[in-house]
Amino acid sequence: MATEVHMPKLGLTMEEGTIEEWKVKEGDTVKKGDIIFSVSTDKMTNDIEAEADGVLIKILVPEGETAPCKSVIAYLGAAGETAPAAGAPAAAPAAAPAPAAVPAAAAPTGPAAKEVHMPKLGLTMEEGTVEEWKKKEGDTVKKGDILFSVATDKMTNDIEAEYDGTLLKIVVKEGDTAPCKSVIAYIGNPGDACGAAPAATAPAAAAPAAAPAGGNTITVIGGGPGGYVAAIRASQLGAKVTLIEKDHVGGTCLNRGCIPTKSLMHCAETYETVKNAASLGITASKVEFDWNKIQSFRQGITDKLVGGVKGLLKMNKVKLIEGEAKFSGDKTVTVTKTDGSTETITSDKVIIASGSEPAMPPIPGIDAPACINSTQALTMDHVPASLLVIGGGVIGLELGSVYNTFGTKVTVVEMLPEILPAMDSELTKIVKNQLTAAGMDIRTGTSVEKIEKSRKGAKVTVKGANGEEVIEVENVLVAVGRKVDPAAINASATGLTTLEANDKMETSVPGVYSIGDANGKWMLAYTAMTMGEIAAANATGGDMTFDRKSVPSVIFLGPEFAGVGLTEDEAKAKGISYKVGKFSMSGNGRSLVMGQTDGMIKVIADTKYNEILGVHMVGPRACDMIAEASLALRLECTVDEWIDTVHAHPTVTEAMREAMLAVNKQCLHGANK
Ligand code: NAI
Repeated sequence: MATEVHMPKLGLTMEEGTIEEWKVKEGDTVKKGDIIFSVSTDKMTNDIEAEADGVLIKILVPEGETAPCKSVIAYLGAAGETAPAAGAPAAAPAAAPAPAAVPAAAAPTGPAAKEVHMPKLGLTMEEGTVEEWKKKEGDTVKKGDILFSVATDKMTNDIEAEYDGTLLKIVVKEGDTAPCKSVIAYIGNPGDACGAAPAATAPAAAAPAAAPAGGNTITVIGGGPGGYVAAIRASQLGAKVTLIEKDHVGGTCLNRGCIPTKSLMHCAETYETVKNAASLGITASKVEFDWNKIQSFRQGITDKLVGGVKGLLKMNKVKLIEGEAKFSGDKTVTVTKTDGSTETITSDKVIIASGSEPAMPPIPGIDAPACINSTQALTMDHVPASLLVIGGGVIGLELGSVYNTFGTKVTVVEMLPEILPAMDSELTKIVKNQLTAAGMDIRTGTSVEKIEKSRKGAKVTVKGANGEEVIEVENVLVAVGRKVDPAAINASATGLTTLEANDKMETSVPGVYSIGDANGKWMLAYTAMTMGEIAAANATGGDMTFDRKSVPSVIFLGPEFAGVGLTEDEAKAKGISYKVGKFSMSGNGRSLVMGQTDGMIKVIADTKYNEILGVHMVGPRACDMIAEASLALRLECTVDEWIDTVHAHPTVTEAMREAMLAVNKQCLHGANK
């Protein structure tokens, strides 16, 4: 009898799935555990394994089509066997008369009974305990009947039968625990063969990332947040790891990016707070700043963290080589060390984490001495009187707002119609208004035509809706993105023309991984770290995949701006039926105390399940608070589950719960927008 292949239920809220790709075609032989198709939902794409050996005799749901969870989408059977007639109800095959070629047998040597599995009810569930069997052996069961209840450390769920038939055999008794997807019972016709019973308390699956037998040597190129994390994790997983860094460990993040920017930003915020403290009854007679001390503070933080990373590498037995690595063969790198000597290293696996460099657009005069990149902008020996920023992206706005606070006249020139184009456009407008109110001149839809040296610094010709204009400034900060150069590490010597990687972080050359800025997926320190953990696990025998859906965006401005998941524009463009909930920070007590009420939380939820699809916010602590939203998206949380979670008072987090309430038109401290 043909075995049904079902659309899986991959999460609590999944109701249907779309066949993204059939990995096998009709007539192909498959083994239990082979990947036979990939299914996508609005949240994820998953490869699905065959649950039985056999030949794929019929595909019912072709690629691109959607089917409800647990419906039959294909049949597996013996070679030459035909699928049940089209139109037969999905649950019918068990009740259909046995085909002539397979006579019904009285002894349990008949057709194989259907397996009942311990379900996987959430991302983190590894095993479950059968709390109660709602049927006993010999009982007739109908598809959809509650068959048993399963308990995990988090919840108890009633589980429905997936087939009609007789409950032939219970393998895992009440109170016993079994791994997810293991067989816990059999359903079929009397006389069907029930497979060998696995031990009821089989040990949980082996740790995915144990080091392969025979040792495993890994070379990591680049000691930024991606590379140092990959090196530490690979070493923790038993590999012998060499990390090569040509400059300072910590990479762009600690030395030239996130951390120094946030150090300067902290000084700017403190300066601003002290200047504006009179309304709180706190006055200071002469508020000044000392730029040299600010620069020492910035460098001190970096030095402390770089030293900390070196200590972590040592503690984790990672061999650090200071020098520049270039591929000189297959998984072979030659390092030119800082002392001038060279060393060639061949290893089992290589993880490329060589980062990116600021990009320079082909604007005439861009090489003028007044033009600086973000690295130079962090280490200026004085605060310039005026600064024109090319690029209204993350770097341009963060650094522009720092200098604006310290008194520089800042003009931002962005060629697109809006700044921060990837963020929710409604909230971007709030941010733009606030930056403008703080004194920044933001020109969108404007291009830079040319830059000429001048006595003051540079004369920049810009062209916008009102025609051309020349703006003379002391410095021009070029912040138009970053670029990756595979030739810088001679990647072709290991067979690579690009450093792109799949979601397991592996490049087109097996055993060579690429993470962080280098692979160009996301140029963010925190995605680089996650990718480092994934590459290290996969290079040591594990199987981890990068989850794009829960990656937050954070922009450290005054106010902070953060988001995760779909923006309203994206939901619209995808034709998703969605609801919106909004809450103004002016209704949040803690924000009022902090004097930061010009902000908003905006939630996008799907209309069918009330599932949270996106959370976007402008306001105090937004870049910290977004973590709760990332977790919600990762766990496929609904608006109602978020609302059911008590939030502490008085905190800014209450505003997020209010925005969730607004989705349900039940906002308590504001209008239901
Ligand atoms: P970006 O891609 O964020 O922004 C560059 C902007 O420049 C874009 O809006 C683009 O339209 C504009 N642009 C490009 N060419 C232009 C031209 N000729 N004239 C005018 N405008 C032009 O790149 P950005 O700001 O340099 O940042 C680089 C990377 O570093 C990004 O991937 C960013 O996400 C990351 N980063 C992240 C931070 C965070 O998470 N807080 C902080 C700083 C950087």
